[in-house]
Amino acid sequence: RLLIIDFGSQVTQLIARRLRELKVYCEIHPYNHVDDAFLRAFAPKAVILSGGPDSVTRTGSPRAPESLWSFGVPVLGICYGQQTMMQQLGGLVESGHGTAEFGRAFVTPEDRKLPLLDGWFMDGREQVWMSHGDHVSKIAPGFQVYGTSPNAPFAITADESRRFYAVQFHPEVHHTPKGAKLYENFVRMAGFKGDWTMGAYRAEAIQKIRDQVGQGRVICALSGGVDSSVAAILIHEAIGEQLTCVFVDHGLMRLNEAEEVVTMFREAYNLPLIHANESDLFLGALEGVSDPEVKRKTIGRLFIEVFEKHAKAIGGADFLAQGTLYPDVIESVSFSGGPSVTIKSHHNVGGLPEKMGMKLVEPLRELFKDEVRALGRELGLPEKFIRRHPFPGPGLAIRCPGEITREKLDILRKADAVYIDQIRKHGLYDEIWQAFAAILPMRTVGVMGDGRTYDYALALRAVTSVDGMTADYYPFTHDFLGETATRIINEVKGVNRVFYDCTSKPPGTIELE
Ligand code: XMP
Repeated sequence: RLLIIDFGSQVTQLIARRLRELKVYCEIHPYNHVDDAFLRAFAPKAVILSGGPDSVTRTGSPRAPESLWSFGVPVLGICYGQQTMMQQLGGLVESGHGTAEFGRAFVTPEDRKLPLLDGWFMDGREQVWMSHGDHVSKIAPGFQVYGTSPNAPFAITADESRRFYAVQFHPEVHHTPKGAKLYENFVRMAGFKGDWTMGAYRAEAIQKIRDQVGQGRVICALSGGVDSSVAAILIHEAIGEQLTCVFVDHGLMRLNEAEEVVTMFREAYNLPLIHANESDLFLGALEGVSDPEVKRKTIGRLFIEVFEKHAKAIGGADFLAQGTLYPDVIESVSFSGGPSVTIKSHHNVGGLPEKMGMKLVEPLRELFKDEVRALGRELGLPEKFIRRHPFPGPGLAIRCPGEITREKLDILRKADAVYIDQIRKHGLYDEIWQAFAAILPMRTVGVMGDGRTYDYALALRAVTSVDGMTADYYPFTHDFLGETATRIINEVKGVNRVFYDCTSKPPGTIELE
């Protein structure tokens, strides 16, 4: 296995992800946990030192354990990792002097070969992503230079005899297009076969859950989304009946969704599942509410109340399980208390753990969405379920701008089902990040048969996206849009007009509220 020593970079998890893509097992451990004894016990086959926000020129700044340098395994230092490697091995690092570099840069090769760079420098230079204030001003004895950039004369250095490699840039990010190749070369040189699988991940995750939970009781809010579902199934595999899931049904789910979720988890997975049918409570509290933030906060508050009620009824729990993914971790770190404004109060079960004295179990914290999907496949979740588009916690409430009524929700459910059916029939579902219908707070005049209609207008939305942070509207053909509008108006009573939303994000958001 490979050890990543984390010096606090925002992108350390991306290193782990690149390695998982190469089917290499790795673990990230913070630098202050990794001392000589840890290193001996972990016995890594290779070590990567991550980037980090500190400056090695500061007294007391993070270091790699001294025994690493005589441990005899390949070491790759990245950014801060490169700098501490150089300094610890007798080189020099300096701050400032106008040599900071942020963003895209080009590295050009020196006239010597390095197996780490196999497949690099095909065009005489290589694009990389830099993000550093300090720079190495003198390399350590035994090192040679293999690549330079205008502001980093020691962009790539190595001591081949000791198998120490150091790069100033970040090969793990997409802006270093051949970064993955560099990791591939590194793990190959370290002797990894690349035979680690999601199956192995599953086994390790299960062991970790058992170690963390012991004999404790775990409660999980199951939404029917991929993340909480995968988390619940995994935890159930690990601790069986010590887990209870609560599906809070707020009456704002899509057509047949609540029944499908509950049946699937009870029957196919045998999960201990409480179906908390609270649609009256939620829809009652939302009556007359049209402000989006009030809607979101009302739903969030009630959700916690209902969840708490059921948790108490089963005698409480020691742990709260959540399907938190790595991007959520990063976002909440940079957003909580940060200078950014609240665009939308996202609904989750935040606030509960402290209030109820529970600790968190988050088995997906290190994974990205596509990896969670792969794990879901490994756990035998049906493909159709795994590929489902994201669905927001507040459900249809935020797809019904203005006041929410049962009548509008019914129309919306039916129209949404026709729209999604159309998308599936045309084979477009997997190309789209998210598609849904929204019912607009207005009626318009139409003519059907020989009569006048005065019915609701509907907006259709479909976007492509990588992570939901930015999005493009999906360019359906006119034929598709025309056919879909006709089908919806013919099949769903109460709708007589259909619009297609051509707004990207930004300036729009994906949901309407
Ligand atoms: P927006 O509308 O902010 O949505 O562009 C980005 C992504 O997040 C989903 N979304 C939510 N998911 N709770 C969730 O779990 C929420 O409160 C929430 N609001 C929006 C949205 O569906 C899209 O995928």
